[in-house]
Amino acid sequence: MERLIQLPRLVWDSIFRHPLPETDLGRATTSFNNFFLHLHPVKVHRNTLRPAYTLGLGLISLFLFIMLVVSGVLLMFYYVPSTAQAYDRMLDLRGTVAFGTFLRNMHRWAAHGMVALVFFHMCRVFFTGAYKAPREFNWVIGVGLFLLTLLASFTGYLLPWDQLAFWAITVGTSIAGYAPVVGQDVRFLLLGDHAVGQEALLRFYVLHVVVLPVVITLLVTIHFWRIRKDGGLSRPEEPEPTATTLPVGTRYGLMGFVRGPLTKSGNVPDNAVFSWPNLLIAELFVFVLTVAGVLAVSLLFNAPLEEPVNVMHPPNPAKAPWYFLGLQEMVSYSAFWGGVGIPTLEVLLLLLIPYLDRRTEGVGRWFAKERLLANSLFLLFSVINIILIAIGTFFRGPNWTFVTPW
Ligand code: HEM
Repeated sequence: MERLIQLPRLVWDSIFRHPLPETDLGRATTSFNNFFLHLHPVKVHRNTLRPAYTLGLGLISLFLFIMLVVSGVLLMFYYVPSTAQAYDRMLDLRGTVAFGTFLRNMHRWAAHGMVALVFFHMCRVFFTGAYKAPREFNWVIGVGLFLLTLLASFTGYLLPWDQLAFWAITVGTSIAGYAPVVGQDVRFLLLGDHAVGQEALLRFYVLHVVVLPVVITLLVTIHFWRIRKDGGLSRPEEPEPTATTLPVGTRYGLMGFVRGPLTKSGNVPDNAVFSWPNLLIAELFVFVLTVAGVLAVSLLFNAPLEEPVNVMHPPNPAKAPWYFLGLQEMVSYSAFWGGVGIPTLEVLLLLLIPYLDRRTEGVGRWFAKERLLANSLFLLFSVINIILIAIGTFFRGPNWTFVTPW
């Protein structure tokens, strides 16, 4: 009986070998000895914890990705990548599977959210100059992650096999076909056929549930490893604080309630704080916010499901997914430049940014005045892309003529 009473404690102690730490040594060993915590450094610079610096955008992107994997695996129990069954399975999810609609909503909204959040995170990194040495290569990995996120979302778009999916992918993949010489071959490789059909559904499914998530996981792992190897997050160059520069009880971190370790005299000894518990509390906070946000949106709005595919009746206009509507808008002016030339140049330019912009001033601060030109150019680039997407989404009607949404 006594053994039975002790059982929970014995199990707990077999997993967590140390009591809750109360000393600096304890905080350090807690980080070292836990599989998940040891991904974090023992200490982080206090700038890392300033919500106004990162806005938590990278973390939100990560948590959305994790939610997508979890909800995606659950959806896989019901989905069949066959043109004969896929749409019926969607109806089953809506009508007969417990929480099926909610699960689908979560997956759909988290996917759209991830595209937007990864873009906002990229903007944060740019506007704080965080792509500069020694973080150039992590920026390049980030650009890869951005493209993969778009692809993952795009390949998932086809799976419900409804009118929206079919025609969006038909339009999206035709854009790839505008590339000179290799365009049609690339399109054929993507679709496994000359038109969107069973082969395309299977290819998109395999890319969506295996290839892209695995590659994204790999790149995210390298992304985080690089952050540690690059010395943590970027920050402004500043002298280490001394006992006189930080008053007793200085509070910093999430909303002021996460405190740095205090020395006996009551002052912060340097700019670093222990990851346990400071960083963990911040991460937990962002995690809860992200999950709550996705759950709320999924309760309020249902993911669209239109009529089953009808290859004889294209909607007018047939639109690509919203994040490719900027491309579709440009294609309406010039198929080659809009669909291939300009996007390729944009990606090349994004990749080369850290190697072209070598000045080191203004890193670690939002919109530093030393970086006025670079920030203005990037802002212009982002605004143009957003305007093109808005035009494609709201201002294009039948035959791609200009309409007003009101
Ligand atoms: C799946 C997509 C991504 C995930 C999950 C992710 C995650 C993160 C996280 C958690 C951080 C640290 C905290 C933060 O800044 O919020 C970070 C930092 C960073 N990310 Fe990303 N990221 C992604 C995509 C990108 C993209 C698209 C870029 C740029 C093109 C990028 C470039 C960087 C850089 C350079 C840093 C270091 C920033 C600094 O030192 O201040 N990441 N990322």
